[in-house]
Amino acid sequence: MSLSTRTRLDRFISRQLNIKRGDVRPLLAKSRILVDGRVAKDIQQTIHQFSHVVFDGQTLQDNTPRYVMMHKPIGVVSATQDDQHQTVIDLLDPGQHDKLHIAGRLDFNSSGLLLLTNDGRWSRHLCTPGNNIHKRYRVELEKPLTEDYIRAFAEGMSFDYENITTQPAHLKIISKYIAEVSLVEGRYHQIKRMFGRFQNRVLQLHRLSIGALSLDQSLLPGQSRALTRLELKHLGCPDSVLDKR
Ligand code: URA
Repeated sequence: MSLSTRTRLDRFISRQLNIKRGDVRPLLAKSRILVDGRVAKDIQQTIHQFSHVVFDGQTLQDNTPRYVMMHKPIGVVSATQDDQHQTVIDLLDPGQHDKLHIAGRLDFNSSGLLLLTNDGRWSRHLCTPGNNIHKRYRVELEKPLTEDYIRAFAEGMSFDYENITTQPAHLKIISKYIAEVSLVEGRYHQIKRMFGRFQNRVLQLHRLSIGALSLDQSLLPGQSRALTRLELKHLGCPDSVLDKR
């Protein structure tokens, strides 16, 4: 169950206690169920992934929302499991991985800001192009950049395989071989493929920021830390969820 897929409390209780849904109403009437510390009375009440639910003093659900920033190193897979290579999950302290997923992958050879969470609604919010959350990358190229790149990135490029045209992207030339690229979407190998149109190979790709959040410069490659309340607020996390951390 995620935040967006709320479920009715009576359905949840009937499943947890293995009783009929009709038998939940008397439990509510006798004030035996608490949701987030309040006596639940309404049979129509809904709960989400992070609702704290207690029956007769026994906790039925208590998931803590988790939000982690990592400095992803080169040579590690953005996946929760991999048969061949170390994954970003392997870099977390034991006991920290529980149910975390990646909010916007980086390629094996890319580095930089990576976000991990157990909050599916938040990761979808960050990755939905319509929400206009810019992901900014520093890109080092094999061949010199020209002004033509700026126009081509801004106009969008057609990707035949997905049958789409990329959203307008912003490219800033920093030096002859270095650009900063800002995207609102994350297609497979998107930046490499966009430079590929110019037969220009990406030598290094580093994610600098996601929306208002920049990679913490004190994190060495492979290190991670929990996001602060302020950082989460800037990235669209509602107070109702922040209060549960
Ligand atoms: N675009 C790419 O090609 N690779 C990444 O890791 C991120 C964006």
